[in-house]
Amino acid sequence: MGRVKGHGLWKTVPVYFLPVIILICLIGCGKEFGPGETEQVLTPKDENLIVVGVSQVGSESMWRTANTESVQSVFTKENGYFLLFDNARQKQENQIKALRSFISQKVDYIVFSPIMENGWDTVLQEAKEADIPVIIMDRMVNVKDDSLYITRVGSDFDAEGRCAGEWLAEYLKKQERAEEPVNIVVLQGTEGSTSMIGRTEGFNAIAEQYENWNILEQVSADYTTAKGHEVMEGLLMQYDDIDVVVSQNDDMTFGALEAIEEAGLTSGIEGDIIMISFDAVKAALKLVQDGIINVDIECNPVLGEEVEKVISALENGEAVDKTYPIEEKVFTIENVGEFIDDRTY
Ligand code: AHR
Repeated sequence: MGRVKGHGLWKTVPVYFLPVIILICLIGCGKEFGPGETEQVLTPKDENLIVVGVSQVGSESMWRTANTESVQSVFTKENGYFLLFDNARQKQENQIKALRSFISQKVDYIVFSPIMENGWDTVLQEAKEADIPVIIMDRMVNVKDDSLYITRVGSDFDAEGRCAGEWLAEYLKKQERAEEPVNIVVLQGTEGSTSMIGRTEGFNAIAEQYENWNILEQVSADYTTAKGHEVMEGLLMQYDDIDVVVSQNDDMTFGALEAIEEAGLTSGIEGDIIMISFDAVKAALKLVQDGIINVDIECNPVLGEEVEKVISALENGEAVDKTYPIEEKVFTIENVGEFIDDRTY
């Protein structure tokens, strides 16, 4: 049944292994080693590739997936790079391990998106002592010595939070509700992360200007849909008078919208609850277009190219800035139609 006809060993070899065996023979025949020579393993150094170790937070959100893709599409062999990529699965200890492994492998550059701001001094000092430049992507680190990193490429999260507050003030004015009491709940991102801190502080700075804005609760939902659902469900059981939900990313918004629907309520332009979201991934922009999310403050995940520009500049001995801000927009039903088709993530 389907075996090679013949004698001995061949009798036991299935027909479908033949092409593999032929291929192995051909590869073997093509290589010749002189006396005393051994087979060389090609390393990134032999190929003159720049070795970049990237430590990613995790894959908690659509934004994060887009950010990972942007990095992976830039640091390719064709572009002259050898990428070592590590997904820390939302744990700081995993990120610290990944950074130490990059240091021991003597990578040329470390790029990382820190899950939270604190706790990086020691490992970044180790990178500095090993002479490995560190580029911070997306969230920021809070370190005593800012020479521990070269630059940071990422959003201005405080500005994003302010944008959300300013949009709400304008919207309430247009709706002639500017003088009425407004009850607000905030679904916050991962505790201690720059995006959560910045968006919270930025929004609160605007909220403080309005005595009638009442922030009922600010609760962490860790930037995930599951948590967004769970937290929103709890808030709806606790309060029956929520006017506004500020959800610090789209994934939590998707979960919150499920909980709102399950509670028999609606959101958006015609709805019971004003919904403010952050990130502006395509799935959320569709909900803006449908009038279910009122406003989505963009957070741009396509950071790979900017990070690569920094590395190129460093390779050419050029000076780089300490921070590279990213351009971002605010999407509402009025303008979303112009942008939605071009959104790739
Ligand atoms: O730090 C950026 C935030 O992290 C994005 O808003 C969120 O979706 C992600 O997980």
